[in-house]
Amino acid sequence: MKPYERLLLENKAWAAEMLTEDPEFFARLEHIQTPEYLWIGCSDSRVPADRITGTQPGEIFVHRNIANMVVHTDLNLLSVLQYAVEVLKVKHIIVCGHYGCGGVKAAMGNLDLGIINKWLRNIKDVYRIHRDILEPLPMDDNQRLNRLIELNVQEQVMNLAKTSIVQKAWKSEQRPDLHGWVYGLNNGLIKPIFDMPAGTHIDPLYEFDNI
Ligand code: CO
Repeated sequence: MKPYERLLLENKAWAAEMLTEDPEFFARLEHIQTPEYLWIGCSDSRVPADRITGTQPGEIFVHRNIANMVVHTDLNLLSVLQYAVEVLKVKHIIVCGHYGCGGVKAAMGNLDLGIINKWLRNIKDVYRIHRDILEPLPMDDNQRLNRLIELNVQEQVMNLAKTSIVQKAWKSEQRPDLHGWVYGLNNGLIKPIFDMPAGTHIDPLYEFDNI
């Protein structure tokens, strides 16, 4: 058996197990999904959104990219966000980073890595904004890295609040609440870092007044 074929075999076993537990499971999910959560996480294979939150298929709408970024020109992220907010009407959006994130670590370095430079530059901007907090911290034990990871999550939550998509939903429906979390690879625990309830006022520079 080729290694990848194990995945197909495991899938058969999983589907059968789900049906044993709940014969209507797939029939119920086939035509409708009503997730309450949008998850924006890192692509890192060690941070599976549903496994670490104990959520089932149908409960959580997921977008993942390198270092869980909310980049305001990223059509992929914006399409997911608009669909989740306006069609699925999610009540909460969670940006979840993780300690030891390789993407954030790379952004703290100075290597030319090709295309990904452009992506990592968004993280460098977060570093620059919070330089005063970060530079006094030692590099050892990943102290500076892990603080940047927390600040990055906070900044990405704020980026969500700057979108007209979120501001429209806040104004008309008082949702979604925004949450910034960081997952610990070493203990499997999520640490809440930063919350932004629906309707929070942000820097007026970023607030649209005609929506
Ligand atoms: Co990562």
